[in-house]
Amino acid sequence: MIYAIMHCLLRYNARQLPAWRKHLKRTCTSRRTATNEKEKLTFNDMMQQRQQQATSSIVVQVQSEKSFPELYNYCASYGQILSAHHYRVQHEDDQHYILLEFASTQEATAAISASVYNDELSGVPAHSPFLWFKATSSKRALKAAAQATTGLLNITDGTEKLDNFVLNDLLCAAPTLDEQILVLHQRTQLNDLGVRLRFLAALQVQQAVSGMFPYANAHPFGSSVNGFGKMGCDLDLILRFDREVVGDVNLKKRANEGRLVFHAKENLTNGRSQTQRQMEIIGDMLHLFLPGVSHVRRILQARVPIIKYHHEHMSLEVDLSMSNLTGYYMSELLYMFGELDERVRPLTFCIRRWAQTCGLTNPSPGRWITNFSLTCLVIFFLQQVKKPILPTINALMKSAAPDDIRLTEDGINCSFGRDFERIGFSSENTVKLSELLLEFFEFYSQFDFQNRAISLNDGRPIAKPDHSALYIVNPLEQVLNVSKNVSLEECERLRIEVRNAAWVLESEVEHPSQTESEYGKAAWGVLNLFKTNERSIVRPHMFFKPRMVEVSDLFERPTSVEPSPSAVEFKNSITKLEVQSVKAQARGDFKQMRLNAAAKATATKARHSR
Ligand code: GTP
Ligand code: MG
Repeated sequence: MIYAIMHCLLRYNARQLPAWRKHLKRTCTSRRTATNEKEKLTFNDMMQQRQQQATSSIVVQVQSEKSFPELYNYCASYGQILSAHHYRVQHEDDQHYILLEFASTQEATAAISASVYNDELSGVPAHSPFLWFKATSSKRALKAAAQATTGLLNITDGTEKLDNFVLNDLLCAAPTLDEQILVLHQRTQLNDLGVRLRFLAALQVQQAVSGMFPYANAHPFGSSVNGFGKMGCDLDLILRFDREVVGDVNLKKRANEGRLVFHAKENLTNGRSQTQRQMEIIGDMLHLFLPGVSHVRRILQARVPIIKYHHEHMSLEVDLSMSNLTGYYMSELLYMFGELDERVRPLTFCIRRWAQTCGLTNPSPGRWITNFSLTCLVIFFLQQVKKPILPTINALMKSAAPDDIRLTEDGINCSFGRDFERIGFSSENTVKLSELLLEFFEFYSQFDFQNRAISLNDGRPIAKPDHSALYIVNPLEQVLNVSKNVSLEECERLRIEVRNAAWVLESEVEHPSQTESEYGKAAWGVLNLFKTNERSIVRPHMFFKPRMVEVSDLFERPTSVEPSPSAVEFKNSITKLEVQSVKAQARGDFKQMRLNAAAKATATKARHSR
C-alpha cells in the first residue's frame, strides 16, 4: 500500500490526487474483500488517468520490434520508461511502432522537445507525440544501444485482432456456455494499447489548437472509452475549446468570479452555422498540418456535424465533432452501466456478435439497428428483470449531487449521479450469463414492438409515441427515438432472429450439442448462435415477397401430429414437444404478421384511392 501511495504521488500530478485519495480511501476502508470487488473508477477519474497517461507517452516508428533495446537505451536519457508497447500497421509493407510511456509528462515533453526535423524531406514542422527513430552508423551510439536493456516490451503486435479461427477454437474449448461468453468478451474487447492510442490521437488534436485555446480539450467518447469497444473500433472524439470538464456548471460559475475578462469574438447568433464554419477550419488544419492524418472528410450538414479522418500511424478511423455533448454523456452512462455489474459487457458483446453474424447490424449506416441501439436493448432487458441487474436512468438522475449537474448549450439536462458509492445500487440477481442470454432472446421474442416503446429512463415499456417500427426513447433527449432509422422490415427481422436464437440456445442449454469428451473439437454453445445458416433462417422478405417461398412450406401442417417421413426424428421427447410448441407459436405469429401486412396494404390502397 505504501508503495502504491508513493508511486501515485510520484506519478500523478496535483489534478489527479483527489481521484487517488478517493481510490485509497475506498481501498483502505472497504469491508468487502479485494478479491471479489473490482475497483470502480468514476468516468471522469478514468478519463483523467488516461489523459495523463497520454501526455506521458510518445509513439515512435521503428524498423521492427528488434529496434526496441536501441530505442529504450536512447530514450532512457529523457526519463524513466514505465512501459513499452509494440504494434504494426499494415500499409504497403508492415510498419512497426513502439509506444513508450514515461513516468511523467515532463519526461515525455523532454523527449518531444529534443526531437528534430528531417532535413532531407520538406515537411510542415508541427510538433506532435508521433516520431520516428532514425538509423545511425555512429559507433558510440551503436555501442550504447548494445548495452543490456532492463526494459521489456509489454506487448508485441498489440493492435492485432484475434484471428476468427483461433477465437472459434478457444470458444470450442471452453468448458461451459458461461465460459464461452466470458472468453468472447476477454479476447475481442479493445485492449489497453488500443485505449492508449486513442487518447494519443485525441491529445494530438488538442495540442494542435492549444496555442489559441490553452484550455482546449479533446475527449474520446463512444466505444473507445465506455468499455463496450471491440478491437479496431472507431474513435469518436469531441473537441471543446474552453472547459476542462465538459458542461460542468460549477466550473463555469467559478470562472465567472474573475474580474479580468478576455476580450473575445462575438459568437454568431446561429450556433450551428458557427460550429460548421469552425469545423471547416479545423478540418483544413488537420488535413494540412497534422502528421499521420489523411482522408479528411467533412460531413457538416448532418444532425451532428462531424469531420472524419484516417490516422495512418495507428490505422484508426476517427469521427471528430464539436457539439455532440449528449453523445459524450451517453458514453458516460454506458460506462457506468458496464461498471455496475460485471455481466453487462460480456452479455452485450455476445449479443452484438450474434447480431453481426446474422446480419442485423452493419458497419455502414442504414435502416438496420445500430450497435448503440442494440446495447440499449440489453440494458433495458437488465433493468426490467424481476431482480433488476441495472438501475433505471431516472434513479441515477435522482441520485445526482450538485457536482453532477451538467447542462449542454442547448439546455439538455445531463445531470445524473456519477459516484458509485452515492448511487449505492447493488443487485440481488445472481443469474448466470448463459441464462441471461437465453432470457434476453425470450424477452424480445415476446416483446410488443408494435405498441410499446423501450424506456431506459423508466426501466419498463411505455406506450409508443409514434409509428416508428422500433422505438427506443433517447435517454437524454426524451422526445427523440434512438432507433428512428430502423425500418419495419428490419424490426421484423429482429423479432424473427431473436426467436431463432432462443430456439437454438434453449436446446444448447438443456441438451448441449456436445458430450464432455468432445469439448474442444466441434462447434457448440454460442458458436451455434453465430452460425449463418441461410437456409435455416426465416427472413421477413418471405412475407413481403410471398412468391419466393410459401411460409406454410417451412412447417408441418398443424393437423399432422406425427412427423412426416421427411421431417426430423427427435430422440428426446421433450425436445420434440418444445420444437412443436415453438413451431405452433411461430405459425400463429406468421399468420398475425400476414394479417397485419394485408391490413396495412388495404389501408395504403384506401389512402391512395381517396
Ligand atoms: P461502435 O462505433 O459501433 O463501436 O459503437 P459506439 O458506442 O461508439 O457507437 P457510435 O459511434 O454510433 O456512437 C458513439 C456514442 O455516441 C455512443 O456510444 C453513444 O454514447 C452516443 N450515441 C450514439 N447514438 C446516440 C443517440 O441516438 N443518442 C444519444 N444520446 N447518444 C448517442
Ligand atoms: Mg463509435
